[in-house]
Amino acid sequence: MRKIVLCLIALLVFVVVYFVNGGTWRRADLPADPGSYYVAYPRNYKFILDDTDVCDEQATSPFLVLLVPVAPANREARDIIRKTWGKQSVVLGKLVQTVFLLGLPTGADAQQLQGKLRVESQLQRDLVQSDFQDSYHNLTIKTMLMLRWLCSRCASASYTMKIDSDMFLNVPNLVRLLLDPSTPRHNYMTGLVWWKSPVLRDPYNKFYMPREVIAEAEYPPYALGMGYVMSLDLPGKLLEASTHIRPIYIEDAYLGMCMKHIGIRPTNPPDQRMFIVNPMFPLGRCSLATVIAVTTTSISQMVNYWITSQESQGDC
Ligand SMILES: *[C@@H]1O[C@H](CO)[C@@H](O)[C@H](O)[C@H]1NC(C)=O
Repeated sequence: MRKIVLCLIALLVFVVVYFVNGGTWRRADLPADPGSYYVAYPRNYKFILDDTDVCDEQATSPFLVLLVPVAPANREARDIIRKTWGKQSVVLGKLVQTVFLLGLPTGADAQQLQGKLRVESQLQRDLVQSDFQDSYHNLTIKTMLMLRWLCSRCASASYTMKIDSDMFLNVPNLVRLLLDPSTPRHNYMTGLVWWKSPVLRDPYNKFYMPREVIAEAEYPPYALGMGYVMSLDLPGKLLEASTHIRPIYIEDAYLGMCMKHIGIRPTNPPDQRMFIVNPMFPLGRCSLATVIAVTTTSISQMVNYWITSQESQGDC
């Protein structure tokens, strides 16, 4: 009898806690240790797939290298990008090349997926894979490896852009911006710049950051991670800076911290319509004529943007 009463009391406590928490068990999911907002980055990850001839010594070095972080399983996004804005090509007389960045697949079918990636890499020659577990929380590792890969493989290129796989990129507009005489060739980073981004203290926010990790109320200025452009002298400088700053899991804010360390501020694009995040309405023909990078809500929207941007923009 006493056991039954104890069980009932325990059950009641669970039910009360559940409803006090707004019908979820979220509180239990919260990592208790501020250390979990850092990223373990021991700097000894290796590249396990790197069959690309992008930036090969023999060939002409590209003007612009597009780096697309993508989840290992997201073959669909890679294939669409290969068929649309990521086609390796000459744009306004300049060589532009695209590379996909991956970590290790996780989960039950990880081994099978790794086999498929090996085949895809041999066929497409545009994958760069490193041996850390690919996950949202590990994106900072991916960015740091991207910088390392650029430094060691692509130092002779002029510019690079990191662009997420769910973005539409207007490559000619980007090349036009980079060829503009007023665009700096060194110490240059642009994108959608957050000049004053508060450090979020609500533990239930996706971007929560405890005071023990970042005491300041605001992050240093940084370009939003969906797509940022930099001159090729920056990867080496940022990598060096990163050895002085413990990495946090928010990769773009972390790059902002590294930028601050080397005393360089990001630059606003010359036109506010060039980098757009979550537009209220899908972009029309004339907006697509001025945009460089915009988030998309689906693969079909990305393809539509691509097709529309290929059509004549004459009457905009
Ligand atoms: C990040 O990658 C490392 C190395 O593979 C791994 O030990 C760790 O569990 C990963 N973290 C997350 C959150 O996936």
